[in-house]
Amino acid sequence: MRSLLRLAALVLPLLTLAGVQAQDKPPINAGPYVPSPDSAVSAMLREAQVGPDDFLIDLGSGDGKIVRTAAKVFGARGLGVEIQEPLVALSNELAKKEGTADRVSFVRQDLFKTDLSPATVVTLYLLPHTVNLLRAKLLDELRPGARVVAHDYGLAGWLPQKVVELEDPEKVAISGVARTVIYLYVVPAKVAGTWSVSVPPTVAKGPMRLELTQQLTSIAGEALIDGKTVPLADARLVGDEISFDLPGRDAVFRGKVRGRTIEGSVESAGVRAPWRATLGR
Ligand SMILES: C[S@@+](CC[C@H](N)C(=O)[O-])C[C@H]1O[C@@H](n2cnc3c(N)ncnc32)[C@H](O)[C@@H]1O
Repeated sequence: MRSLLRLAALVLPLLTLAGVQAQDKPPINAGPYVPSPDSAVSAMLREAQVGPDDFLIDLGSGDGKIVRTAAKVFGARGLGVEIQEPLVALSNELAKKEGTADRVSFVRQDLFKTDLSPATVVTLYLLPHTVNLLRAKLLDELRPGARVVAHDYGLAGWLPQKVVELEDPEKVAISGVARTVIYLYVVPAKVAGTWSVSVPPTVAKGPMRLELTQQLTSIAGEALIDGKTVPLADARLVGDEISFDLPGRDAVFRGKVRGRTIEGSVESAGVRAPWRATLGR
């Protein structure tokens, strides 16, 4: 027993130390404080079509200018997470002065540990390799249709919805060139699988089955309709909005994905009628 206690006395402090060290591991530095120029902030918010219904999270918020502008100019609510306490205090102070403190807040927090699920828009101006460390987190935690806007450094392997380039002489002091690039991404719904579809008689005699494959924003598939397999044409997915054509049937489907259901309208022979799909056979 005594030797056990002696062993525990030797080992426990080491274990505790290891635990504390693991807990206290410093956050990854995702970049120094360099505020986005006004032109970039405006372009980011404009391209994301930020509005009063949005909740924007800026990861690494610096002096809070993106979140503060989103509230002041576009009426959004928001949160800035920043690792440097003086910048957090400055951001909250400026928000108070500007009269937006009821809609925005700034907290000292590691951006890699921030819960992104409340956001409808996430903004990023971070070092390129750290932007890419966030890709899986953004796709896992954000809801379909949420927008991600990245300043200068985009997300590898995720096709942007839009890329905008601007020239701003203010950028020369920051990056050596006047060029600014804004990348807009839209979080795609998850649609891969087999869907049972009810369609109007103008399209098929009975129910249809849809087999969809997906690679992030890109989808493809085929429909089993009246005993025939028809490959989908022009299949698109933007956030939670899906559309495709059934060639040979003159039918254009559009719908909104909500979890395991899709609802929308199909236009066939000049007639528009509702369609509905549920995931599973
Ligand atoms: C390039 S500045 C961008 C500031 C602001 N988003 C803008 O565009 O004006 C990056 C900011 O991220 C902060 N930062 C770096 N690593 C961080 C981390 N792990 N968690 C939270 N903030 C971090 C830095 O302190 C810095 O203020």
